[in-house]
Amino acid sequence: MTPRSLTALEIAAGRSRFLVPAYLQYHPDCPVAVARANGAYVYDLEGREYVDAFAGVVTISVGHCDAEVLEAEIAQMRLAQHVTTLYHHEAPVLAAEALAATMTDMGDVQLLFTGTGTEATEFAVHLAKLHTGSSVVLSLRNSFHGRTLMSASLTAQEPWRNAGPYAVDTHHVAGPYAYREMPRGMDEAMYEAHLLAELERTIKHTGGGKLAALIVEPIQGNGGVLYGSNEFYGRLVEIVHRYGGLVIADEVQTGFGRTGKWWGSSHWPLPPDMRDMAKGMGNGNPVGGVAARVDVAAAFKGKAHFSTYGANPVAMRGVTKVVEIVGRAETQRNIQTRGEQLLTCLGELQQRHPLIGEVRGKGLMIGVELVRDRTTRAVAGTETLAVMDHCRTHGGVLLGKGGAGNVLRIKPPYCISADDINTIIRALDNALTTVESAG
Ligand SMILES: Cc1ncc(COP(=O)(O)O)c(C=O)c1O
Repeated sequence: MTPRSLTALEIAAGRSRFLVPAYLQYHPDCPVAVARANGAYVYDLEGREYVDAFAGVVTISVGHCDAEVLEAEIAQMRLAQHVTTLYHHEAPVLAAEALAATMTDMGDVQLLFTGTGTEATEFAVHLAKLHTGSSVVLSLRNSFHGRTLMSASLTAQEPWRNAGPYAVDTHHVAGPYAYREMPRGMDEAMYEAHLLAELERTIKHTGGGKLAALIVEPIQGNGGVLYGSNEFYGRLVEIVHRYGGLVIADEVQTGFGRTGKWWGSSHWPLPPDMRDMAKGMGNGNPVGGVAARVDVAAAFKGKAHFSTYGANPVAMRGVTKVVEIVGRAETQRNIQTRGEQLLTCLGELQQRHPLIGEVRGKGLMIGVELVRDRTTRAVAGTETLAVMDHCRTHGGVLLGKGGAGNVLRIKPPYCISADDINTIIRALDNALTTVESAG
């Protein structure tokens, strides 16, 4: 029997009836009902084409339905769809070998594969506790690390914290957000020194001077594309290690070339002891993992841990192919040049549009913070939604948002072309003009 096909209206009605109301949706007045996707484009049921500037919440790295990735996955699907790590299979070994070769900053690593980024956070913290004998885990405010108990406890964003109490011994410390949170009278160096002093005080007085780990996104994604300086990250690593803790880099968004380097942490002196990954790793396939230094992973000797769907051979074939494609010079060049094009064009838009408070980011991970007033920096939340809706309806562009709902997130697939970037900029220009003139 062929499955029933639904119209866009039937999908909307069925979603309200059968899916939980917790699912957020973009463009509630004009939802996008997706029919298919290819490369940097998404097509709706009416056949409209959109430049996907949010890449399925940053999951699509090399491009929607990339032919090479699909071929690798389908070939494996025909052989064996799932076997678990109870049996030997070459696919996770090949994927881990390919990944390990990209992580020379960590020395020798071992990997555990998961189904999601949330699960990767859980695993990394579990291992950090075993390795250090401490249960104190810190994260930075505005971070996002997942939605299960431990990962939600570490996630430090108001919308995601609605079902406490959270895990004991998890604490948040302020992270760098100079544009919005730097106290008056401080410069950036003073501000970051102040943050680091507070980090050290938290370890000493709240954690009793013993630390399992600090988990950090090299660039906070959901938080609104936020990051600190070389000095900040260098000193952060030094402090965490001084108190016996491990640095976990949550590279679920910043990994796999997204920021113009293989790993986001390589922009700074931030060599992690463990690295969480997911999203772009699978190019749309649900897969994640943690890479741990071999001496850290050794804490698992004699203990059992695994994930039923982690190391799934189909996912692993996809990961290996994604690593190969991201490693190609032309992919890396495109991330770099398209990222530079975006930053230059957005800088020009900022000159003409008072709604744009700040443009920031690296590679194809860009945030555009919208404010009602450049002096007060009042959050332009409804304006951000209006800009996104306008880009969707009039510009053929899908954007994401983050921060306090006022940071446009532009994180397209790596195969995006110069023309596609121009389409994004044109759509934004028109949307900002319309929203500014309405306000
Ligand atoms: C930085 C970061 N870590 C962890 C997660 C959780 O990943 P997942 O949604 O695959 O569980 C996300 C998801 O948005 C993320 O952005």
